[in-house]
Amino acid sequence: TRTPLMAGNWKSNLNHQEAVVLVQKLAWTLSDKKHDHARSEVVVIPPFTDLRSVQTLIDGDKLPIGYGAQDVSAHDGGAYTGEISAAMLAKLGCSYVVVGHSERREYHAESDQLVNEKAAKTLAAGMTPIVCVGEGLEVRQAGEHVAYTLAQVDGSLAGFTAEQVAGLVIAYEPVWAIGTGEVATPEDAQEVCAAIRGRLGETWGTEAADQTRILYGGSVKAANVAAIMAKPDVDGALVGGASLVAEEFAGIARFY
Ligand code: 13P
Repeated sequence: TRTPLMAGNWKSNLNHQEAVVLVQKLAWTLSDKKHDHARSEVVVIPPFTDLRSVQTLIDGDKLPIGYGAQDVSAHDGGAYTGEISAAMLAKLGCSYVVVGHSERREYHAESDQLVNEKAAKTLAAGMTPIVCVGEGLEVRQAGEHVAYTLAQVDGSLAGFTAEQVAGLVIAYEPVWAIGTGEVATPEDAQEVCAAIRGRLGETWGTEAADQTRILYGGSVKAANVAAIMAKPDVDGALVGGASLVAEEFAGIARFY
């Protein structure tokens, strides 16, 4: 069985002091709501500059919240100005790394091959990649969203073993639903998440595919999360805007 995962992608929001305040509020709110962490795993994905402070707070106080990074270098380190290596993130105690977010694919021209290299570095450093895929509006309107997304899955996971695929996380985020308030219907989310799991089964076997967690992302809120989570192939959510408000994100975590 797959433990639901609720990951809050803060994007380029909150400095390290604001990060500490939000994580404290989140921990307090989850405890106030008597959140059962066995029923959904809660993870925050702050900007790089916040990670040391978040580590000190979460690990120091043993808070039941995981944390990770929004991106990673495809290189091991060295003369790559501005890049953050997987080893640096692992040393900070990160469990997760988001790779191939649509904002990076779009604004930084990240290809499936680069996403594949970043996911491989994440795995090699002992962390779990959250590999993002999903189509834009034009592809959706052309009715090609499944084929488009599956091609991204193929390219982003190329060369991985069944064991690696079983342990990683895929986030299906249709670009037209990100930050727009236009959430995909639960049926839309299920259609593509099921197709992704089907493709994983074809390539790596159903035993691996049954273990891979597949998240939906795009305008998820406390008010719409339960209907999405009711779908059999949706194992959690990658949350943007709503993860910046402790009460709202705690409400998403407590979808059950
Ligand atoms: P919103 O939840 O703000 O739509 O963002 C989704 C997203 O891109 C998470 O990675």
